[in-house]
Amino acid sequence: MLNNVKNMRISQQIFPRPVVLVATVDGDGKDNVMPASFVMPVSFSPKYVAVSIAPERQTFSNLRKVGEFTVNVATLEMLEQVKVCGSCSGRDLDKFSMARLTKVPSKKVRPPGIAESPITLECLVEYMGRFGDHYLVVGRVVEEYVRRMEFSPLLHYAGDRYMEARPFEP
Ligand SMILES: Cc1cc2nc3c(=O)[nH]c(=O)nc-3n(C[C@H](O)[C@H](O)[C@H](O)COP(=O)(O)O)c2cc1C
Repeated sequence: MLNNVKNMRISQQIFPRPVVLVATVDGDGKDNVMPASFVMPVSFSPKYVAVSIAPERQTFSNLRKVGEFTVNVATLEMLEQVKVCGSCSGRDLDKFSMARLTKVPSKKVRPPGIAESPITLECLVEYMGRFGDHYLVVGRVVEEYVRRMEFSPLLHYAGDRYMEARPFEP
């Protein structure tokens, strides 16, 4: 057995994980955006996606109150914007303008999509339950946008460390 394995975070054990930008709105309609790499596809049909969100996040309060979000896949080119949105809370800040992200009005939910993202999924929260220090949030995808089929997804390792996907022929 290696030493120090108890100090290894789950994010250092299960990686890489794609980064998505989760957009939400509060009760007054003010939008917010945060990166999440605890993200998982859940079902093909109907389409469901899950994210795991810590209760300290403004995003969490918004999800609790409004129950709607968009999942926007982040690309390598969006790294700086991901860092900006992950470095502070949207409680008192407008992270869309700080990160220079372009909002796209959604069709079926209140939070906007993000034009820079190749894929946007509009989601309705169907489940929120606490697991340890995070809440699992499962959303049913009610609308989707594919702006580009080819893109390089931004992958997260842990903390401030990222990876990129390299396709290969098996
Ligand atoms: C690449 C990356 C991935 C992250 N993944 C998650 C995640 O899956 N769940 C989570 O609760 N926080 C995650 N965070 C942290 C939040 O994005 C960060 O705390 C953010 O400032 C919260 O913003 P908010 O308070 O406006 O919601 C991640 C941060 C980064 C940079």
